[in-house]
Amino acid sequence: MSGDFRQARYDEPLLNEKGKPGRLGVALPPWDQMMDPGDLLPEGMVRDELVLPEISEPELVRHFVRLSQMNYGTDSGIYPLGSCTMKYNPKINDRIASHPTLLRMHPLQPEDTVQGVLKMMHDLQEDLSDIGGLDACTLQPAAGAAGEFTGLLIAKKYHETRGDTGRNEVIIPDSAHGTNPASAVMAGFKVIEIKSAPDGMVDLDALKDALSEKTAAFMITNPSTLGIFEINIREIQSACHGVGALLYYDGANLNALMGKARPGDMGFDIMHFNLHKTFSTPHGGGGPGSGPVAVTKELAKFLPVPLIVKDGDDYKLDYDRPDSIGKVKGYFGNTGILIRAWTYIKILGGSGLTRSSELAVLNASYIRSRIQEKYPVPFRSEDQRTKHEFVASASFLKEKGGSAKNVSKLLVDRGLHPPTNYFPLIVDEALMIEPTESETMEELDKFADALLEIADATEEEFQGAPNNSTVSRVDEVLAAKKLILNWNQFPEEE
Ligand SMILES: Cc1ncc(COP(=O)(O)O)c(C=O)c1O
Repeated sequence: MSGDFRQARYDEPLLNEKGKPGRLGVALPPWDQMMDPGDLLPEGMVRDELVLPEISEPELVRHFVRLSQMNYGTDSGIYPLGSCTMKYNPKINDRIASHPTLLRMHPLQPEDTVQGVLKMMHDLQEDLSDIGGLDACTLQPAAGAAGEFTGLLIAKKYHETRGDTGRNEVIIPDSAHGTNPASAVMAGFKVIEIKSAPDGMVDLDALKDALSEKTAAFMITNPSTLGIFEINIREIQSACHGVGALLYYDGANLNALMGKARPGDMGFDIMHFNLHKTFSTPHGGGGPGSGPVAVTKELAKFLPVPLIVKDGDDYKLDYDRPDSIGKVKGYFGNTGILIRAWTYIKILGGSGLTRSSELAVLNASYIRSRIQEKYPVPFRSEDQRTKHEFVASASFLKEKGGSAKNVSKLLVDRGLHPPTNYFPLIVDEALMIEPTESETMEELDKFADALLEIADATEEEFQGAPNNSTVSRVDEVLAAKKLILNWNQFPEEE
């Protein structure tokens, strides 16, 4: 596989490349006892031939075990990917979500046969509203970005319903996650970016200059992606509401605040949650996410249909909502993920959630204090505390040919997952570190020790890394420009 961007060191062939004709890993009934597919499927939809890998059970099991061993996840060790909140996903979540009754349910079942799961979803709507300090919640959006899009459609409809149709701008700080401006553009708004002040806060003068009768909403993450709590939030709120704009809270960083402060109490009108960050549901690899949206009483009528409502002792799917923005996801959201978040919230309870935010902040502060002499933490004044994450700079390594990327490759060599690199863009050679609450002191020390050791690495060490991983340094440009989506698409040996 030369020319392959993966530069695999320990190559694991694909299933199609393994096996031999006649090998079998399943026991199927004899052909003449099986139903003819032609009797089951419409004409023209039955294949004449299907070439499948012929492989024995042990070969198959070993293949997947080997692949899993090449992987790294929150079950392997610290995963301090800033902004992503890669916390440990407790196994009880999966256990509850895999309950046979829940697994056998179908989204089109009559409501009276799924009262239990509707109660769970209703509880979750209520719990999230309570955690956010807001009044109503939809569980439908399938990711944080989908929540942003939903929230901004609600903002749009709110202004339009009031006849305020000239509001076509959304203001966003330059430290924001890239999905914020992308969602605003998708919802039909023009994005106005404002610079952060030197201490990482919103530049209030820049915000006030940008606000006008054209502003539909100001979108902000608090704490910001720099891990800094926006202490001027009250002033920001009155400036935004003063010109008739709404305040949108990107809840991706809620892991810093649970039980301590609520976006609704800060004056936010709309927020999304990232269940796959804050509430310990699986994350990454393109799997299902969930980005519920909560709003104030005034905006509740615009939420997507159906909402799960309580009617006497019964739970119902309410489609009779004439002002709703419509539907944003098939059925009611990613139910399997919602059940996992419900489990997490119910098991931890209010005090447990508060404690997890406290520990997330403590852990980030600990790593920062251990490494900050070597890795400067810009955009932070002396008296500012780090919240659940912080952004350090590896720019001091440039003079010896190093970079944030090199730091990450050397972390991989030490069996540790790297932090987020090069985000937010306002920090040169950014290393965005978010250890989460679930790490022990020993794991935090292992990570901090590795970073300190890497700060003294030589140019030569930077160049070769990673040397101990399954896959060596990938050609990122080739990987992005030449997608290989089919197993037999690899370039021939030259
Ligand atoms: C601050 C912030 N906002 C929004 C998002 C978007 O969330 P999602 O990836 O679920 O679409 C992220 C994701 O990393 C984020 O970190």
